[in-house]
Amino acid sequence: MKFLIINGVNLNLTGKREQNVYGTNTLEEINAYIKAYCEVGCDQVDFYQSNIEGEICNKLHEAYLNGGYDGILLNAGAYTHYSYAIRDAIAAIDIPVVEVHMSNVHAREEFRHTSVLSAVCKGTVSGFGAGSYIAGLVGLNEVLTKTE
Ligand code: DQA
Repeated sequence: MKFLIINGVNLNLTGKREQNVYGTNTLEEINAYIKAYCEVGCDQVDFYQSNIEGEICNKLHEAYLNGGYDGILLNAGAYTHYSYAIRDAIAAIDIPVVEVHMSNVHAREEFRHTSVLSAVCKGTVSGFGAGSYIAGLVGLNEVLTKTE
């Protein structure tokens, strides 16, 4: 299995910003944690972060056209709540995408309760910190290995 983990806007500051919400681990540390988890039963995991909406769309296109990925985890950050461009990019590609949030977005401000991405994603994980990425990978693996 080959997976791509995409983190969007402001996620580069994870570990530094709003530590009470997102914890103290940096994105690099979280990625290392994901990589260690992936060492069993996964051929390759790649990581990408951008604060720029169009670059996230480009990465999704590229993953589909040239990447050979089996699945994608996407934490789009605040773009989750209003980016129709990212929504359309997910809908355009034939790879299962799981929407990931470290915080429980439904226990937070009203604007975070809406996701314009969920309807075109395979599933959503929210509220487990770095564990949300692991749960997303478990879900992807279930979907990809189901034989029925
Ligand atoms: C987030 C939740 C979003 O509402 C927020 O804008 C983020 C991070 C999360 O991981 O919990 O930047 O996606």
